[in-house]
Amino acid sequence: MRTAAPIEHITVLGAGTMGSQIAAICALSGYRTTLVDIADAPLDQAKDLLWTRLERDVDKGRRCAKEVAAAQAKLQFATDRDAVVASTDFVIEAAVEDLAIKRQIFASLDAVAPAHAILATNSSNIVSSQIASATGRPDEVCNMHFFNPALVMKCVEIVPHELTSLQTMECTRILAESLGKEVVQLNREIPGFVANRLLNALRKEALNLIDQDIASPADIDKAARDALGHPMGPFELMDLVGLDVVYLIRLAEYEQTRDEASLPHPQIQQLYEEGRFGRKSGRGWYDYASA
Ligand code: CAA
Repeated sequence: MRTAAPIEHITVLGAGTMGSQIAAICALSGYRTTLVDIADAPLDQAKDLLWTRLERDVDKGRRCAKEVAAAQAKLQFATDRDAVVASTDFVIEAAVEDLAIKRQIFASLDAVAPAHAILATNSSNIVSSQIASATGRPDEVCNMHFFNPALVMKCVEIVPHELTSLQTMECTRILAESLGKEVVQLNREIPGFVANRLLNALRKEALNLIDQDIASPADIDKAARDALGHPMGPFELMDLVGLDVVYLIRLAEYEQTRDEASLPHPQIQQLYEEGRFGRKSGRGWYDYASA
């Protein structure tokens, strides 16, 4: 059985909130890592945010300066995806939640990645069978799903599709554990996996409560925190994850299920259309500009 030991170089695609923190976790765990995006601007922004975050961790005594300096040396930023992927052992794709784009990306990855390289997607809603068929190596494709903020959240869900090999699952599990994560392994794929399905049930009821004008988002969040002990309420969490991500996840689910219940809630659609994406844009359910 293959182990994670042969993994020397990890490529993370997409310098958004998830991709950048996943890349940082890989580098902090000692892997040579390249974070790839299509332009320099998101890479520069990701680098600034990551270095600030890691320096803050050092200031607060959560990490030592040596560990952070080692991670900074291991983490590269690049736009020439094909050249990077040609020498990679493991790809974690964290690009936009759009099936057509992901299929295009995976077809290109398949053309240039070494034969042994595993191609994983961080998607929580687009199951890997839908992407694997764009490659000539479906046995080496799976979902490897991190949670936001990836630097902090302990869980990774690993999800096979029908053709994912046991070797790919084992290698992905060993990698996740070597990143310090707790693995939740699904037996078979289902959009949303386990954690987001649980979360969606809570979110659906929270939206139902505001539809009926039973309580405000702030009071519903307070109930989740102070009555149920959740670290944050469902509206605060949508603002953290990003309303754009929440919206696109619903659409991706709808594309797979064609069930109208999967469509984004009208209020989420409205916030998305107004560009109120949550913390990242300064406004979502809550206003952060004045905070
Ligand atoms: N990135 C990295 N680290 C962060 C962070 C971020 N965005 N936000 C907080 N942290 C870390 C920092 O170390 C922070 O300390 P400093 O502010 O001193 O640097 C520390 O966490 C504590 O943060 P806060 O004091 O702001 O607040 P907190 O104690 O409530 O912790 C939290 C923040 C870890 C995000 C916590 O509220 C939490 O666990 N929330 C729930 C998150 C969650 O449910 N995530 C899953 C989302 S679903 C998903 O991701 C799936 C998907 O497919 C979209």
